[in-house]
Amino acid sequence: MKYGILKFLEDRETGEKFNVVVFEERNNPTSPDSKEIVSGYLKSPNGSKWYPIIDELPIFVPNAIVFYKDFFEKYSDKLPPICFSAPEVQKYNNIQLRVQKGFAHEWTKFTKMLGYHDREPFEIVGLDIKKDFNNKYIFDGGCGYGRHSYAIMESGETKNSEALVCDISAAVWSAKKNLSHRGDVHIIQADLTNLQVKSNFFDFVYTLGVLQHTPDPHYTFMQLSSLAKEGGQLETGVYEIKHPLGHFVERILRRVTTKLPEKWLWTLSYLSIIPNFMFYKLGFQHIPGLNQLIRVLIRTNPNWKCSQVDTYDWYMAPYQRRYKVGTTESWFLEAGYQNLIRDKLGYGCVLGQKSSGAPETRNIMMQEVPKEFDGITLFS
Ligand SMILES: C[S@@+](CC[C@H](N)C(=O)[O-])C[C@H]1O[C@@H](n2cnc3c(N)ncnc32)[C@H](O)[C@@H]1O
Repeated sequence: MKYGILKFLEDRETGEKFNVVVFEERNNPTSPDSKEIVSGYLKSPNGSKWYPIIDELPIFVPNAIVFYKDFFEKYSDKLPPICFSAPEVQKYNNIQLRVQKGFAHEWTKFTKMLGYHDREPFEIVGLDIKKDFNNKYIFDGGCGYGRHSYAIMESGETKNSEALVCDISAAVWSAKKNLSHRGDVHIIQADLTNLQVKSNFFDFVYTLGVLQHTPDPHYTFMQLSSLAKEGGQLETGVYEIKHPLGHFVERILRRVTTKLPEKWLWTLSYLSIIPNFMFYKLGFQHIPGLNQLIRVLIRTNPNWKCSQVDTYDWYMAPYQRRYKVGTTESWFLEAGYQNLIRDKLGYGCVLGQKSSGAPETRNIMMQEVPKEFDGITLFS
């Protein structure tokens, strides 16, 4: 953890900076005259909460103890008493553990940079990866293995910018492998619905393929919209309703697939290679009926590996919503954003700019997650 990350962070309860307790430091490889923290913890100013720094990354998820037992054991005599009670951790596990495990599996198995595809979500809303990301504080919400931040920060043209990238799952360790060589990228494991991050601060906030996988996407959107400063931009990308019949089939299949162990589902998702081959190589994409049938069952992609990974994602994610075109725009307007641009390719990406006088959106109420929500695709 580079000390520079502290400018992005703030304790939500007090609105103040964290205090840092260091167990182990090392020379910062990207700036040899400064240090970075290998292990320790961040402590809120009133002492009510603390968050571990494990192997250089700050970990804000309340169930850190589930994933990082070794750290808690190793430093048991130096750490304060755990600040999340067992029932709180259990409740959190019930809501997010499957999300964390499922995506961790995906993004530790697949960590390949895809070049054009990683830049594409920005280009389709009119942003130029070589010009539009200079002198910016950037926030990547739900970074996965960090491919979009890699595209921006490694474009070779991005100057004087710093990025804070965040994911709820152990995908952050893949993001670390891909991005930690850069002194201008900071990584945290955190939940977008409870970020210890400054609001009204960032120049560019983006979240691609993430909102629909959170229990209350409108709430998550509002949290992210609060991070951009006045005049700053927010880009979101969500799944939209394209083939209502197909989504109905998807909904039925997901009732089963979302209950399968990640490893089984990962193996099963290799079956997508066959229909994907038929679609592109045998010309099924041009045959009405067969085209739709295949696209109902799998995520097609000219690259078979991307098809397999996306198909796993589609059938694994416990929360998955699809939205009517226009829903995200209505959220942008509600949060005081203007100059909205929708991508022309129908990928469900929208870019907006925060206006002066935009309302405070951070403290809205989260919807209670219905019990039967788990494993069902909902439509809004
Ligand atoms: C479909 S992947 C997209 C990853 C990345 N944005 C990309 O396009 O490659 C969704 C990501 O969102 C993360 N995620 C889901 N819920 C989250 C939450 N509440 N807070 C932070 N990240 C979350 C998952 O762990 C996963 O890595």
